[in-house]
Amino acid sequence: MTGQKWKWLFVIMMSLSLALTFPIPSFAIENSECLDCHGDPDMVKELPNGKTISLYVNPKKFKASVHGQNDIACTDCHSDITELNYDKEVPHPVPVAFVNCTDCHDEEGTAYEESVHAAARAKGVKKAPICYNCHDYHYTKYLYGDTVVQLENKFCLRCHHPEKYHKWLPQKKTHFEYVMCAVCHAPNVGKHIHLRLYDLMSEKFLSGQEILNKLGLTYDTFMKRFDTNKDGVLDISEFHRFVRALRVEKVRAIFWGEMTDNLEPLVHKVTKGRAIKNCKTCHSIKSPFFDKVYLVLTKPTGQAPHYPVKRGVLQSFYVTHFYALDATRVRLLDIIGLLIVLGGVAFAGGHLTLRILTIPLRRRRREGR
Ligand code: HEC
Ligand code: HEC
Ligand code: HEC
Ligand code: HEC
Ligand code: HEC
Ligand code: HEC
Ligand code: HEC
Repeated sequence: MTGQKWKWLFVIMMSLSLALTFPIPSFAIENSECLDCHGDPDMVKELPNGKTISLYVNPKKFKASVHGQNDIACTDCHSDITELNYDKEVPHPVPVAFVNCTDCHDEEGTAYEESVHAAARAKGVKKAPICYNCHDYHYTKYLYGDTVVQLENKFCLRCHHPEKYHKWLPQKKTHFEYVMCAVCHAPNVGKHIHLRLYDLMSEKFLSGQEILNKLGLTYDTFMKRFDTNKDGVLDISEFHRFVRALRVEKVRAIFWGEMTDNLEPLVHKVTKGRAIKNCKTCHSIKSPFFDKVYLVLTKPTGQAPHYPVKRGVLQSFYVTHFYALDATRVRLLDIIGLLIVLGGVAFAGGHLTLRILTIPLRRRRREGR
């Protein structure tokens, strides 16, 4: 071979290896192409047994999902579909390959692998959940916007009946309503208390946007307005100013406190035999589980910014608790659960006041005490 030929061969080899390292980007398939077919509500597939399953994906709901909001494409998850060939009856492979959520969520995958659920699945327990038995796959929402009860209904309570176990735990209903399952069952995850505003008139949680609108503020100006000493935390007097501002706007609401885990991958490491059982872990003045307290202002997108609040707010006189606990009561504990803040109760009038004041009573009745 002449030197010239070698040179050409070299150039060709180089381009080939370059092409292999940097694949020429295939033109991404737009979601709209998939939705041309799958956006039709009548689209179904017939199974051999005569039953049909829907192949419809609701474009609006998909767009509003956390993945839609973050511009994740259909083919980011259905990654085996790299082209659509319209000469074929179905323009892509069938069956479509299994979706690996862990391609993007690898830390969640690792924590999940160490959970009771992965262990049960490995033993062939088909009912044990994988990612998308718990999470919705096309319409997944941001999770922080939900209350403990909403999250538990969405997740654990679909398969478990916790009132059947936990015989050692008094006030089961109260615990399950205000303490996330994973607080005890994923003991290594950080915990915090979050406070949201519950409107007594409409009997609904107020969204962050509603609260900000009432105060004439935005997510950016909220802390600027109330965190006057600029330390990034609302201390007691700053919190009181917030409460007073709400009162001026005639917001009749209470603070609803819950104990929840931090939203981190380790929540997936659901354990057996290592769950928190010792009452003192929580029912003690020193419990670190009350160190982090946040005010939650949910966004229309489902995101839920957490604004740090000093722990002492839980005991401040604006935030009065109304459970008469037994003699064993611990001050701090009093505070969790429903926290009354606003003078609203006094204005609200007979019926409502009675309703509120009897919440503990009614709760107890439900628990059969
Ligand atoms: C976050 C990942 C993800 C995204 C993004 C996604 N899918 Fe899926 N899709 C899944 C999973 C998981 C399944 C269930 C597969 C299974 O059951 O094996 C699925 C199932 C389907 C099915 C079968 C019917 C059904 O609902 O179970 C269709 C059709 C489908 N997807 C189309 C789409 C289209 C069209 C888009 C874009 C608009 C899309 N997918 C975006 C994860 C995703
Ligand atoms: C020309 C119409 C058409 C287009 C465009 C189309 N599909 Fe499909 N798709 C179908 C049909 C038809 C089926 C049912 C195949 C069968 O009978 O099993 C199907 C089935 C599926 C399934 C379920 C397959 C299974 O394993 O049961 C998924 C997931 C899917 N499509 C995703 C997509 C995605 C993602 C896109 C865009 C990249 C897309 N489709 C574009 C027609 C289409
Ligand atoms: C047993 C039900 C269950 C299974 C299975 C499950 N999740 Fe979760 N997931 C949850 C719960 C509960 C939360 C936390 C909610 C909270 O603490 O507010 C969560 C939170 C998340 C979050 C947000 C928190 C974070 O880590 O950033 C992501 C992302 C997530 N899951 C992805 C996955 C993936 C991927 C898989 C599969 C490997 C999976 N989940 C399996 C129940 C489940
Ligand atoms: C192509 C990458 C990709 C894939 C694949 C993927 N996700 Fe996601 N997921 C994201 C991104 C990006 C976000 C938004 C993260 C954020 O805003 O903090 C997200 C957010 C989430 C959240 C919300 C977490 C929160 O902060 O509340 C959940 C739950 C979730 N994904 C579950 C899943 C599940 C279940 C699957 C598989 C069916 C999956 N994801 C597949 C990229 C992906
Ligand atoms: C889709 C159904 C499903 C969901 C959702 C689910 N689990 Fe499970 N869970 C199972 C199955 C099945 C097992 C295995 C039971 C066995 O091994 O016999 C299991 C096992 C467990 C165990 C161990 C108990 C035992 O007997 O081995 C705990 C603790 C647990 N789950 C807690 C949770 C929590 C907390 C959540 C919510 C974050 C949750 N599970 C969501 C189905 C589910
Ligand atoms: C106050 C802490 C706490 C809370 C809250 C809690 N658990 Fe448990 N749970 C435990 C302890 C401790 C056990 C005993 C087994 C262990 O040590 O893991 C247990 C046992 C279980 C078991 C049975 C395990 C077995 O031995 O068969 C399941 C399933 C379970 N819990 C699910 C849940 C679900 C679902 C929720 C939320 C609704 C929840 N738990 C809330 C502490 C808690
Ligand atoms: C993971 C933390 C945690 C553990 C562990 C725990 N608790 Fe609780 N407990 C709470 C929280 C939070 C509340 C909610 C208080 C409220 O809503 O007023 C609560 C409520 C209660 C209440 C009812 C208070 C009321 O006003 O209705 C009693 C009684 C109680 N716990 C006793 C116990 C006992 C006894 C144990 C041990 C067997 C225990 N708890 C374990 C966190 C915990």
